[in-house]
Amino acid sequence: MANNTNLGAAKAAKNDEFYTQYADIQKEVNAYLEYNPDTFRDKTVLLPCDDPEWSNFTRFFAQNFERLGLKRLISTSYAVESKKYKDYQPTLFETESPWFDADKTRIKGKIFELTRDTNQNGRIDIDDLEWHYLEGDGDFRSKEVCQLRDEADIIVTNPPFSLFREFVDWIMEAEKGLLIIGNQNSITYKEIFPFIMENKLWLGVTGFSSDMVFGVPKGTDVDPKDKAKAARLGYVGDFTRLGNSCWFTNLDHGRRHQPLQLMSMKDNLRYSRHKDFQAEGYLPYDNYDGINVGYNDVIPNDYNGKMGVPITFLDRYCPEQFEIVGISKTWFGFATKVYPEQLQHSKDGKVTRVTKLNDGPVIKLDTVPVGETYYTIGETLYKQEYARIFIRKKQQS
Ligand SMILES: C[S@@+](CC[C@H](N)C(=O)[O-])C[C@H]1O[C@@H](n2cnc3c(N)ncnc32)[C@H](O)[C@@H]1O
Repeated sequence: MANNTNLGAAKAAKNDEFYTQYADIQKEVNAYLEYNPDTFRDKTVLLPCDDPEWSNFTRFFAQNFERLGLKRLISTSYAVESKKYKDYQPTLFETESPWFDADKTRIKGKIFELTRDTNQNGRIDIDDLEWHYLEGDGDFRSKEVCQLRDEADIIVTNPPFSLFREFVDWIMEAEKGLLIIGNQNSITYKEIFPFIMENKLWLGVTGFSSDMVFGVPKGTDVDPKDKAKAARLGYVGDFTRLGNSCWFTNLDHGRRHQPLQLMSMKDNLRYSRHKDFQAEGYLPYDNYDGINVGYNDVIPNDYNGKMGVPITFLDRYCPEQFEIVGISKTWFGFATKVYPEQLQHSKDGKVTRVTKLNDGPVIKLDTVPVGETYYTIGETLYKQEYARIFIRKKQQS
């Protein structure tokens, strides 16, 4: 038991320690530059929640300071004694620096700054970074890091997963640009989705289907499958692959202005490669205003009402083509009815009393479905769909 608790605590601690790879940062940032070469020009970029001595965020932005046209780069770290994961050795960079202080190294955050050609070699780059200890531990919520946020134009990082909601709020309340890594599941959080619906936050360029590899603290237990996948992508050793990571941003990029190429309802019903869709068609929900569209490639181009589409739609969302009008989560309050207790008929024939129908979009059925879980209330048959985002064709103004 004690061992399990220790293991659990170690796992939770390490859950915040995923280190982003240079190639992923480069690929993402380059896409914004392709769309607008001045995205970062004359801007102050803040990289909080970092470890600037070896972070790829600091390395990338410092090395590309001139190419991006930055005005100022600030990178801050979180003191090891404040982290949940405390295994840490100061780098030679720190210990050999004249500013090294053995009393501060574990309890103070650090700030690295780049604004000028300190070594006067004719260019501003990583060798010109200047650093000192922060007054406090570098918590992004501290007064001094809040002040740095207020001085910044764009905040870029991979924040601690456990504080993602709070981190997004921290940026939004200051109305700053952002480019951060998060988990795809956070799209449906009640603190995050409203920003997406209002077009104040959207997905970055690196899509849902791309795997991202992260460094992990030495010796971290990684699922062998993820380790092998990371190795296949060229990252051998203390790395893992997180298939559900993606970028969130409010910086514009070209991909979000490319409309989906779609067909009419009639043509989708005739030509779709999805057999289950062909058999079922566009069924209306029983507890939401809208029709069920189970695949992004059968979203019709000639329907003006509300449509429930997979969450992955967000990866293809073009705000000139569609508007987002809701999500099938109880907290959103979009459901039109509340079901009493139901009987769940599982695929293996097991029947249980549940209240699950209130958790998602529901379709009323005429006949018992083959090979699918279904529900009954009295004589009426129902099935539940996956979580959906509700969209509507953008009305021409
Ligand atoms: C997911 S890691 C990413 C590190 C780095 N940005 C990168 O991508 O390579 C998040 C980091 O934030 C640190 N952290 C945790 N809580 C923090 C807080 N309240 N303020 C600042 N940093 C925090 C964690 O210790 C961890 O090192």
